[in-house]
Amino acid sequence: MTNDSILKKEIVSVIAGSCYDITLLANACAVLYQHLKQVNWVGFYLNKNGKLLLGPFQGKVACTEIAFSKGVCGTCAEKKETIVVDNVHDFPTHIACDSASNSEICIPILLNGQLYGLLDIDSPIVCRFTKEDQRILEEIVREITEELNKIVDVSKMNMI
Ligand code: SME
Repeated sequence: MTNDSILKKEIVSVIAGSCYDITLLANACAVLYQHLKQVNWVGFYLNKNGKLLLGPFQGKVACTEIAFSKGVCGTCAEKKETIVVDNVHDFPTHIACDSASNSEICIPILLNGQLYGLLDIDSPIVCRFTKEDQRILEEIVREITEELNKIVDVSKMNMI
């Protein structure tokens, strides 16, 4: 079994049967942080009250609110598509939470077509996230989405 399939299997097993979304996300990012090499931050931002709020994460303290369209996360939220940034210093609105970060991948989580939140991963290595990394991480986000769909009330998910 490849490292990627072990990672996916572990995530699937750790999130199965969760009854609360924050619990699910907390364990999912712990597994990702332990398995992924050369990453310094893994976490989720959640779409609440018209902005992105910091959710479960592993790594250094991060900004608590991000506006749609600001930074890599806001761009991902606005476009509802994966954003891979080879060098964050070349990304005009990049928000530096940890000065060690040099590259980043951000993957949206959509429930019924609406933005629930996103997975954000930072690395100190320039060009850390390859097409293959994107593929496996998007697969993992699909698994997370499937579980979230079982427990999240989509009509209330964007409010606190
Ligand atoms: N770099 C992100 C902000 C979040 S941190 O990386 C944890 C951005 O530009 O949106």
